[in-house]
Amino acid sequence: MKFHDPRHEYDRLREQGLTESDAGWVACRHADVVEIAQDPDRFSSAVSRFLQIPNGLDGEEHARMRRLLDPFFAPERMETLEPLLRSVAADLVAEISRGEVINAVTEFGARFAVRAQSQWLGWPSDLEDELLAWMAANFEASRSGELTQTAQVARRFDEIIRSIVEPRLTGSQARHGDVTDELIDVLRNEPDPEATLVSVLRNWTGGDLGSIALCIGVLVHWLAVHPEHQDSFRRLSDHELDQAIDEILRIDDPFVSNRRRATQDTTVDGVEIRAGERVVLNWTGANRDPAVFGDPEAFNPQRNAGQNVVYGTGPHVCPGRPLATLELRVTIQELLKAVSQIRLAADHSSKRARPPAGGFRSVPVVFD
Ligand code: HEM
Repeated sequence: MKFHDPRHEYDRLREQGLTESDAGWVACRHADVVEIAQDPDRFSSAVSRFLQIPNGLDGEEHARMRRLLDPFFAPERMETLEPLLRSVAADLVAEISRGEVINAVTEFGARFAVRAQSQWLGWPSDLEDELLAWMAANFEASRSGELTQTAQVARRFDEIIRSIVEPRLTGSQARHGDVTDELIDVLRNEPDPEATLVSVLRNWTGGDLGSIALCIGVLVHWLAVHPEHQDSFRRLSDHELDQAIDEILRIDDPFVSNRRRATQDTTVDGVEIRAGERVVLNWTGANRDPAVFGDPEAFNPQRNAGQNVVYGTGPHVCPGRPLATLELRVTIQELLKAVSQIRLAADHSSKRARPPAGGFRSVPVVFD
């Protein structure tokens, strides 16, 4: 069965340059997206009425927060974390029955994302089912576009985070010496430490859970459709595999867009944008721009690495990239180590997620 692929809509929009939509101007061309993302003076990230740290901050306030938070993703930290995440991936792969149809997004990607994140942050493993239920609700809410539903889901998530953070902040619970405790120490002297912590953790976990699950769905789908690469990927070095993964995500980028607001009257690619107007940066469209990548479907990791914007660009470039890269690498390595073949399930079709989400909501596959 043929399914609708929103990437083709972004390909079509890109040919028209900057276009108008209900959400504001939409930029799908690589040059426009990069220009806007790299110019925070003309395009502010303060687009939400909710506190978003660091996503919704600008200027020095943003830079100060990034200085505090970026060290959590430093290379030596990722090195320490690697064996832990590798065993999460290996255990999960071992749990999945061979020869049976599974949905690679929900039963593999989402489960890995939740377990990996709980290990990283030091959260109790019995939160797994609650976090999985939250992810499903969050996915449905963003699909529906219903503001009340979205707000309800956001509240539920804040409650989960508060239940972890509050007892640690007030000292009613012993220290665990984990990443969450370290984050509490770093943010303890902020004007409103609890609100700041909840916002940072929401953006970390929001960035992590959904996007990792979707990325794993895209990667497993691509490997199933390109079986010749399953074997060649087993022989790649870590660095080569990281580049290959980034390139698959460039071709099929599930982290579709972010927003900006013009701070002044300005022009992009000859189009006039007024102060206060909204702009959507469509990373998925930019990553498929033939002006930069030639044939957008052509797999060419080395050639395309320098222009790939899966993790954004400019001052808001993804701080979690080293963690995401590590999580995706160990997942693919452990999967390819444990199975002889990944194949699309016969009589089932993959289903694309609906915008604003990217990637797939369902990738039925069989691990042999
Ligand atoms: C494969 C997974 C991921 C993808 C594709 C991704 C992509 C992105 C992109 C495109 C941006 C730029 C946003 C903008 O310019 O407005 C971004 C920002 C951000 N990401 Fe990620 N991300 C991923 C994983 C993660 C992880 C694992 C974390 C943290 C644990 C994370 C935390 C953040 C945060 C906090 C920001 C905002 C940074 C700022 O505003 O300064 N992301 N991400």
